[in-house]
Amino acid sequence: MRPQPLAACLALAVLLPLGAAAQPAPAPATPAPATAPAAAPAPAAPTGNFDNGRVLAYTCQGCHGITGYKNAYPSYRVPKIGGQTQQYLAQALTEYRQGKRRHPTMQAQSMSFSEQEIADLSVYLSTVK
Ligand code: HEC
Repeated sequence: MRPQPLAACLALAVLLPLGAAAQPAPAPATPAPATAPAAAPAPAAPTGNFDNGRVLAYTCQGCHGITGYKNAYPSYRVPKIGGQTQQYLAQALTEYRQGKRRHPTMQAQSMSFSEQEIADLSVYLSTVK
């Protein structure tokens, strides 16, 4: 894939949540999330549960919880996620989940979460200093 200019990526990131309906994006061959659609009307983002978020965030520590934001081994930089806004975190995770944002590790991470769990994680992580 041709690398896009950063500005275009940022513009997309800002516009996507509201303009998603207008996107002609061809659906990638991702399996549908295992949620029951009948029970989940959810037009807006679900409200996150702090305690559940804290439990879910346990696995993130290994990469994101390290002083200086470097993974232990192999050593590479990992972005700071604690203290970012809920919207920012939820959007980043959703985009990894949908494959709009590509990074094998984070896609794998985010695909294991439901929308609700992403909201939970976002609420918790936004409070972490
Ligand atoms: C194996 C290491 C690893 C684990 C585990 C991991 N991440 Fe990440 N995460 C990364 C890396 C590396 C990036 C940067 C990816 C990129 O360049 O797009 C990233 C990016 C992110 C971003 C985007 C941050 C930004 O500012 O763009 C968020 C949000 C995030 N991770 C949340 C999580 C959450 C929540 C968990 C736990 C459920 C988690 N990550 C677990 C390595 C990891």
